[in-house]
Amino acid sequence: ETFDATGLHLLPGAIDAHVHFREPGYTHKEDWRTGTAAAAMGGVTTVFEMPNTDPPTGTVEALGIKQRAAAKAHVDYGLYGLLAEDNLDQLDGLVAGGVAAFKCFMGNTFGNLPSPSTGAMLEGFEIIARHGLRISLHAETASIMAWRQRKLMAAGRRDPLAHLASRPAVVATEAVSRAAILAEWTGARIHVLHISSGDELRPLREAKARGVDITGETCPHYLLFDERAYGDLGSIIRVNPPVREQHHQRALWEGLRDGTIDMIATDHAPHDPAEKVRDDIWTADCGFPGVETQMALMLTQVNAGRLSLSDYVRLSSTAPAKAFGLHPRKGAIVPGADADLALVDMARRETIRAEALHSRGRITPFEGFETVGAPVHTLVRGRFVMRDRRLVEDSVGWGLSVGRIQSMPEPQPRHVEETTAAITRTLPPARAAE
Ligand code: NCD
Ligand code: ZN
Ligand code: ZN
Repeated sequence: ETFDATGLHLLPGAIDAHVHFREPGYTHKEDWRTGTAAAAMGGVTTVFEMPNTDPPTGTVEALGIKQRAAAKAHVDYGLYGLLAEDNLDQLDGLVAGGVAAFKCFMGNTFGNLPSPSTGAMLEGFEIIARHGLRISLHAETASIMAWRQRKLMAAGRRDPLAHLASRPAVVATEAVSRAAILAEWTGARIHVLHISSGDELRPLREAKARGVDITGETCPHYLLFDERAYGDLGSIIRVNPPVREQHHQRALWEGLRDGTIDMIATDHAPHDPAEKVRDDIWTADCGFPGVETQMALMLTQVNAGRLSLSDYVRLSSTAPAKAFGLHPRKGAIVPGADADLALVDMARRETIRAEALHSRGRITPFEGFETVGAPVHTLVRGRFVMRDRRLVEDSVGWGLSVGRIQSMPEPQPRHVEETTAAITRTLPPARAAE
């Protein structure tokens, strides 16, 4: 079969390191079929899916449930295992079971998974460092947020801006700094999810300079919205961490261009409209879908001259392939080399409409955005999963776990024996005073 791609650009498919597909547990928001259909429609050929489902992906048993749900995927996927306070005995089993990376919720967000103590994080990092898999962090400090939110609620603040006030940039900055120290100590590889502020860039840069294997992502909503969105969109723009003031947005664009921020991910977080649109901000769910709109939104920025096309490919494909060890040819990072491809029409004009999304969470802050540039065909391992802007329905189940091609560099654990020895060591007998 021949195929005419005249006038289109051939890009490696996007790799989205941060999506929530909600199954098992919250399938009224999304499931693996609808989530991966949205990915295919967005030019995304591989997703990394988060563990805040019900049950959370923190035990070997729960991983099995997630793997059975993921068997319907249209695109390839990596599964995140959870690192929590109480599942340290499960981490080795999760690796053996095939997780592609780990996720640690340092602060509260959808799913209400309790944040591990710094002590449990340290031990979890030590265990995972022996395997070399990357640990992605929801880097917000729970205790600061809880304090702030109590004060705001007591003051009767229930408006959308109260959400931003409850999570000032220090919440994320403190968490990034602390996680970087634990990573440096243990040799664990880490990834900072959804960077929303300029302040987080300093500990990120400093950790990179110290040789910590740390990467970071930001998301289209932090690049395209600022605090004015709270007045326009109310609870629809509510997301963790929050969309911030304009000076943060400027710093994020700089961080993308100078390489401090390694990649763009979407934090695809669909919710049912009834759970999302509320006057009382504290009762509205956080997050919104993103996997389907990322490429069109960012190609629009390329067309506007804010980013080069090769920068976009680095941010959406090369960098996540490198960070998560996707090596279609052993040793060489060549995104798209196993024919995971997006064919894009750089001139195509579209208007984003929530009702047209393939995600079940049909509500988006990007409603009405006019985009220039869009994927028109998506191929996963040489097979069309989207063709002429239509989902290829019978590609359901074509997606595979990335375990088949994943290989992380040699683990470099540090201080592990020392810490283990300290636990088993007994004190020498006290000497009698002279
Ligand atoms: C995410 C979700 O809904 O699962 N929500 C969000 O606001 N980003 C969780 C998360 O990434 O923190
Ligand atoms: Zn998060
Ligand atoms: Zn998320």
